[in-house]
Amino acid sequence: MAGLLAYCRQGFEPELAAELSTRAAKVGYPGYARTERNSGYVVLVADDSAALNHALPWRDLIFARQKMQLLGELKGLDPSDRISPIVQLLHHYHPPAVTGTTEAERRPAYGEVWVEHPDSDAAKPLAGLARSFANALRPALRRQGLLSARENPRLPRLHVVFVDGQHAFVGRNEAGDGAPWPLGIPRLKLLPDAPSRSALKLEEALLSLLDGQQREQLLKAGMTAADLGAAPGGWTWVLTRQHLRVSSIDNGPLRQHVMDTGLVEHLRADGFHWKPEKPLDWMVCDMVEQPRRVAERMATWFREGWCRHAVFNLKLPMKKRWDETALCLDLFEQQAGRRLDIRAKQLYHDREEITVFATTSSTR
Ligand SMILES: C[S@@+](CC[C@H](N)C(=O)[O-])C[C@H]1O[C@@H](n2cnc3c(N)ncnc32)[C@H](O)[C@@H]1O
Repeated sequence: MAGLLAYCRQGFEPELAAELSTRAAKVGYPGYARTERNSGYVVLVADDSAALNHALPWRDLIFARQKMQLLGELKGLDPSDRISPIVQLLHHYHPPAVTGTTEAERRPAYGEVWVEHPDSDAAKPLAGLARSFANALRPALRRQGLLSARENPRLPRLHVVFVDGQHAFVGRNEAGDGAPWPLGIPRLKLLPDAPSRSALKLEEALLSLLDGQQREQLLKAGMTAADLGAAPGGWTWVLTRQHLRVSSIDNGPLRQHVMDTGLVEHLRADGFHWKPEKPLDWMVCDMVEQPRRVAERMATWFREGWCRHAVFNLKLPMKKRWDETALCLDLFEQQAGRRLDIRAKQLYHDREEITVFATTSSTR
């Protein structure tokens, strides 16, 4: 079977399926999505999977935690030898080297192998199997010349994805076109003095939605920011840890140690009406409100030039979440009235919501 395989938050399979099929059709590779509710993954069945994989970069996908080109689906695996069918499948794509081949032809096809399972209630118990199978698979792939002797992130990565003990998908991830974390989940630790668990959302957003260059260039000590819907202060605290000066807007109180940084001004005001006296570098917004209303307000900030970069959440309604997402992002882009680099993702720490990063600086 050819196509794409992508992981998502459990329960968001319909959104990911809608996103993948809509986007694939738009770039000229129509396919159909195959998924089960609460499975944590979606397969988009399509003919030219390598070209489709290239045309839908992971960076641009909202509901995909990870994405890969599907090489095959193996059902009825024999628990006493799950390795041979995988090697056989891979040899179909990468025939064994014969004598007289050049150095380049003998180069291993993969620089890493990750054995994973979807992040679903049904598949989480497969974590132990995945770990021990990876330890057995690696040396076997090396013996076959399929895997580099040492990890090499510049080569494609092989994924073996168990959905049960006898059923696995095999996929290929091109270097740089996917989440750099197993299962597509960045492991972040909540520090003891974080005012709220929400702090992790902004930390993850800065880590996943900005690239290394953007983190260096766009987040500098002494920059200014507004935090709309700031209480009890998790996002404000994350910004102060980057040494930004923050105007925190919320009728609710902020934790004292956040105020004690000396970098924060707490203003009890309505985040939909408050505006800065001078243009700021950043605006972040975690107000719980209708997503269209938030998208419109965010667009106003960019149209009026009140900020250069923003991270904001769009809380999704229970129904038609993909349609609402597409609508809100279009609305935001159109009403912002200027060229923006926009990235949106449902982050690991996002529940019924997505997070958007928008910037006037183009580094692409
Ligand atoms: C999810 S909490 C924010 C958590 C915060 N980001 C953190 O990390 O601690 C949402 C906040 O938005 C505030 N809020 C909702 N509507 C607002 C409005 N119109 N103006 C200002 N704050 C608002 C609420 O008071 C609430 O404190």
